[in-house]
Amino acid sequence: MPRMNLKPGRKDLDRKATFKRLMKYVFHTYPIHFVVIIICIVICAVGSISASIFMPKFIDEVIQPGIKNGFDSVKDHLVFLSVSLGSMYIVSFIASAIMNQLICVVTQGFLYKMRIDMFSKMEKLPISYFDRNAHGDIMSTYTNDVDAIRQLISQAIPQFLQTMLTVTFLFGMMLYYSLWLALVVVVSVYFIFMVTKKVGGGSAKYFMKQQKSVAVCEGFIEEMMNGQKVVKVFSHEEQAKADFAKLNDELEGNAYKANAYANILAPIIHNIGNILYVVIAIVGVILYTNNAINVHAFGVNTLTVGVAVAFLGMSRQFANSFNQVSQQINSVVMAMAGADRVFQLLDQTEEVDDGYVTLVNANIDEDGNVTESDEYTGKWAWKHPHKADGTITYTELKGDIRFFDVDFGYFPDRLVLHDVSIYAKPGQQIALVGATGAGKTTITNLINRFYDLADGKVRYDGININKIKKADLRRSIGIVLQDTNLFTGTVKDNIKYGKLDATDEEVYAAAKIANAYDFITRLPDGFDTMLTGNGSQLSQGQRQLISIARCAIANAPVMILDEATSSIDTRTEALVQKGMDGLMKGRTVFVIAHRLSTVQNSNAIMVLDHGVIIERGDHEDLIKQKGTYYQLYTGAFELE
Ligand SMILES: Nc1ncnc2c1ncn2[C@@H]1O[C@H](COP(=O)(O)OP(=O)(O)OP(=O)(O)O)[C@@H](O)[C@H]1O
Ligand SMILES: [Mg+2]
Repeated sequence: MPRMNLKPGRKDLDRKATFKRLMKYVFHTYPIHFVVIIICIVICAVGSISASIFMPKFIDEVIQPGIKNGFDSVKDHLVFLSVSLGSMYIVSFIASAIMNQLICVVTQGFLYKMRIDMFSKMEKLPISYFDRNAHGDIMSTYTNDVDAIRQLISQAIPQFLQTMLTVTFLFGMMLYYSLWLALVVVVSVYFIFMVTKKVGGGSAKYFMKQQKSVAVCEGFIEEMMNGQKVVKVFSHEEQAKADFAKLNDELEGNAYKANAYANILAPIIHNIGNILYVVIAIVGVILYTNNAINVHAFGVNTLTVGVAVAFLGMSRQFANSFNQVSQQINSVVMAMAGADRVFQLLDQTEEVDDGYVTLVNANIDEDGNVTESDEYTGKWAWKHPHKADGTITYTELKGDIRFFDVDFGYFPDRLVLHDVSIYAKPGQQIALVGATGAGKTTITNLINRFYDLADGKVRYDGININKIKKADLRRSIGIVLQDTNLFTGTVKDNIKYGKLDATDEEVYAAAKIANAYDFITRLPDGFDTMLTGNGSQLSQGQRQLISIARCAIANAPVMILDEATSSIDTRTEALVQKGMDGLMKGRTVFVIAHRLSTVQNSNAIMVLDHGVIIERGDHEDLIKQKGTYYQLYTGAFELE
């Protein structure tokens, strides 16, 4: 059973609109396949009723005359009818084979495209999207929701279409053969509809609930697995078991109702079909034995045995068709909810990048004149086209970053930074210190333009960063993030993430700078050791060293080190510090550290408190001031 995370999508889920959009999407992906499939479905529907078309002919034109006048009299007609029926079956078999293959192509191809579209979209979304949405939910869109759509496209829709066509054709034939008998069928269809609506609707409702419960249970199990140590430390095993039992109860209740409803539907429809069969038999016999006038599409005649028998077969097929459609209700409901969530993701507003200042290779002469170069020169410049007069100016990339009265909040109504001004000249090391939650990481998020300012300005080499193309801006900044992220791949791959075309020598050099070289060479496969699960086989500090190496290899003129040395023991820290001093030389560096020993050598230290810079200066100045920094440094703060 596919798991669906039914965090209810939009309340006003408009199934019709979603369905239309989904079909349009499929059609645009495979227009020709789509049309051929529809043609094949029509052929298959005709094929499925061909027995009913031929039945009256066999009985009335071959069997009965054959009994009366001997076999030879009907031999040719029998051959003709058999060959015709056989040909219809063959054609419909071929159509069905083609259809199934095409459905396979369309479904898998469509899902492939859908996943690509979703992933491409995801890569364009702003960081704030990931703040707002639980990662598990986004993940389940790729797995459960897409799978629900697969079931819809590959099974529910083709079956539904074919059944509807079959039913329509059957009904047309019934009208053609006998109006009275067709009326009997209409009455039974009415009952089938009512039952399907009532029971099927209930089943779908509980199916959604069941899936929601499954998701909640899975979430709980996942959390308990991750937190197993905490559970044990606090002896919460019994509590965890009780909590799980409660969730499991709910799952059981919903699953029971969903399946109970679903399981009644089929037998009810089946039995309405049985009653219909009997009623048709009775009415047929009455009509036939009384030589009653039979009204049909083209006039009036008497009912033949062949028609009566064919009707029995048709009524059975009719009921079975409805039964099949009713079985698809759940997957349609689930797929619509899934499609809705996929479309919600695809409709998200993308991160806008209207920056037009780009980073180019540059030649710089002794007088400081900058010219653009097509080749790698080791020097970089900002290429700034001026819309007003069509001129282009080049500014050397130096790494001068200044904040002017910046205000910012993750939510418009709650500012996190107030009036922040920071001047980081090229080559300077600026430290941001302050209590947890003060806004240190937030400042670095703004340099990257992960978020947009509420007010104020940030200038990079004198250029407003809003004018700089985001990709180029980010390329010029190396970051060691507060929480390390390593990807599945070798240690070497992970370091190369900072510079994809790096040579092995560059990787080793970067590892040496970060002081990661020694421990990496001691790993089972050295630099080729596979890392999985965010590098879970490494210690926290080792992971941090690898991410420092990844930043080092990028060789960017501006670096941000957010708590880069927080998980490293003091002895290693001193070593890393030494390496990093080399790395920092000639670069503008923002360091964030709780351990003040690591920021002492900074050119300027900004002390943040609730998003406001309350003190600034170098270590000596701040100690002399005997303010917050002094308290933080001497530990007085914590002791208070
Ligand atoms: N993604 C986010 N969405 C909403 N609020 C956030 C987000 N990230 C941080 N905040 C809030 O912004 C404030 C500043 O957070 P920030 O991460 O900048 O603190 P910090 O100084 O880096 O703290 P720490 O030393 O613990 O890393 C906090 O009050 C925090 O709750
Ligand atoms: Mg932080």
